[in-house]
Amino acid sequence: MKKEFKFFLMLLMLLLCEVVCAQIPIYLDETKDIEDRVEDALTRMTLEEKVAIIHAQSKFSTPGCPHLGIPELWMSDGPHGVRMEIQWDNWGHAQWTNDSCVAFPALTCLAATFNPNLSYEYGNALGEEARFRKKDVILGPGVNIYRTPLNGRNFEYMGEDPYLASQMVVPYIQGVQKNGVAACLKHFALNNQEYCRKEINVEVSDRALREIYLPAFKAGVQEGKVWTVMGAYNKFRGQWATHHELLTKQILKEEWGFDGVVLSDWGSTHDTHDAVMYGLDMEMGTRTDGLHYTEKMAYDKYYLAKPYLEKLYGGEYSEDTVDEKVRRVLRLTFRTNMNRKRPYGSFCTKEHYDIARRVAEEGIVLLKNENDLFPILPGKYEKILVVGNNAVRSLTVGGGSSELKVEKEISPLEGLRNVYGEEHIIFTEGYTSGPSKWHPHVAEISKSDSLRQQAVELAKSADVVLFFGGLNKNHKQDSESADRMSYNLPYGQDELLNDLYEINKNIGVVLISGNAVAMPWIDKIPALILSWYLGSEAGTAMANIISGKQNPSGRLPFSIPKKLEDNGAHFYGKLSYPGDSVNVLYKEDILVGYRWHDTKKIAPLFSFGYGLTYTKFEYGKMHTDKETYVKDDTIKVVFELKNVGDVSGAEVVQLYVGQRRPQLERPQKELKAFRKVYLAQGETKKVELFVPVKELAYFDDRIQEWVVDSDQFILYSAASAGEIKSSVKVNVK
Ligand code: GLC
Repeated sequence: MKKEFKFFLMLLMLLLCEVVCAQIPIYLDETKDIEDRVEDALTRMTLEEKVAIIHAQSKFSTPGCPHLGIPELWMSDGPHGVRMEIQWDNWGHAQWTNDSCVAFPALTCLAATFNPNLSYEYGNALGEEARFRKKDVILGPGVNIYRTPLNGRNFEYMGEDPYLASQMVVPYIQGVQKNGVAACLKHFALNNQEYCRKEINVEVSDRALREIYLPAFKAGVQEGKVWTVMGAYNKFRGQWATHHELLTKQILKEEWGFDGVVLSDWGSTHDTHDAVMYGLDMEMGTRTDGLHYTEKMAYDKYYLAKPYLEKLYGGEYSEDTVDEKVRRVLRLTFRTNMNRKRPYGSFCTKEHYDIARRVAEEGIVLLKNENDLFPILPGKYEKILVVGNNAVRSLTVGGGSSELKVEKEISPLEGLRNVYGEEHIIFTEGYTSGPSKWHPHVAEISKSDSLRQQAVELAKSADVVLFFGGLNKNHKQDSESADRMSYNLPYGQDELLNDLYEINKNIGVVLISGNAVAMPWIDKIPALILSWYLGSEAGTAMANIISGKQNPSGRLPFSIPKKLEDNGAHFYGKLSYPGDSVNVLYKEDILVGYRWHDTKKIAPLFSFGYGLTYTKFEYGKMHTDKETYVKDDTIKVVFELKNVGDVSGAEVVQLYVGQRRPQLERPQKELKAFRKVYLAQGETKKVELFVPVKELAYFDDRIQEWVVDSDQFILYSAASAGEIKSSVKVNVK
């Protein structure tokens, strides 16, 4: 009896479970495939709910579908930290007391590490912070190519080379999205300047578009599997980039197979028809018709709101057009806030600070170091004079949408005091550029020349001078919505540096910047470090590099021209940059950055990929595994690398490739592989780099195809674009 009874009971339970399970709608059933859940949810939504879910309900959220229990989607800036909570309806800060985050280094610093593994850790840490702050989309990374040193937002991006940006952006996206938070690849595409960004029309060739400006986006979509892409403000060939027939419809979705959500930049949507027909899935941040942009009705007046709904009712657009968008929004929802398996994130953890510091340390670039001024070992000097507003200025605030409210920001001055002891560090501001967070009183000192006299006076008796200058996050410096007006350092820094050098030749310069700057004093100054906006652990990382606790290993993610006109974007006059406020023509075409300097034989002050360390490396002769390759082959190069200096360190070995007799103009050489190699003192390692022959292709705009010519190719092993170590010729059949 007992056995039969048990069996019967079990059968009953199973039946019951079947009945119960049958009650759970498919869209809520985690065991079901996401695509099935999408289709099921779609059938349950009214037309009004479909239109509601594809546009904003507030500054940074969309409404979801309340009656189906599909939650709101919440987003936050930015690429290097989770922005403080913003007001519901305007750009004001919500003044919460629980949203002070970790500031990670800006993305130029991440690119300067040339370390994709670190990029994954960075993305994961940022994803954990975003997840903890209950954000479903983090509005980064930006991968617009660095075309001009005047672009206000270059600090948010990954440099001038599409291959470097592609290699660094993929792991970042994977790290973020591992937390069930969507990354957002921005700004798609050709947003390479802030000057007139909201209306400028970009004209650029198909070849430059495909070979320079799109590759990092393509890698982010096809390898990174990014879940959202943000349309750019500018126009391209007369059409708004955010809903663009070629960019967002044909290339991004049809050619690349992007299955996520295209969201607008805040105010980059301009037209219902184009938004409906050319690939925009989610409209954010639009003002209405210019009457008001905070009135309650604003969101219903969006181009993809009532105006769209009325045309759907009237049959001007089929329901398929909105279903296509809603599918993507639902897919994003099931990947993020309706994915019960996603982790819970974490905030301001020791691990996050460690990653911020490690990225900072690995991104700092040592550009010059005569008489081994660096490292300054603790105890070497009695009196270290620290000069410069950037030694104390908060650089996590400002800069536009990537602004942060941090739990901690160690200034360079604080970092140096921690390492060398207060008694050995004297500080004077040297120049002023507006109120600072740490020393509000310094802003009262009005005349910068009184600051300069003070600094010069103190330099007389200092054992060594450390100058902290560069740019900052002020308007028309490294900041969104405006470009720099000059290539020179601002606030009288050049004069101050010259005066300091006259008084004390033992001076090390640390520039904090997201851009190249003019360096008229470079032949005099013995030592120079290019630091970046390093975030919460700025001072710690800088002090560790300056004191030799860490050996610098950063490399330039962009070229530093001697003068602005040596840069390709500035060679062809105003129409080529910044344009005439209506159009901007990228006349340098595919010759961006080192491609320009190599091909036009205009030597930069410092080359792309350049950076010194506290040790020395020797490259052995490079060999390839074959002499002749066919299209589906992968070229393997091998060479030995030896650390012949006194300390351990890391070298970024780079492989560039040039074609012998191209049918169409090609740059003299292009980066096709790199690796950061760590070597102990005296250690030798065999380095192997791989280049699929397919990666040697150029975009032939005559047939709109990528082509690899049968030709001879020259491979260059290099320590930077300006330091070739050895070369090998190979044939491709
Ligand atoms: C800004 C920026 C974009 C940012 C968005 C939301 O205008 O262009 O990068 O994510 O608006 O703040």
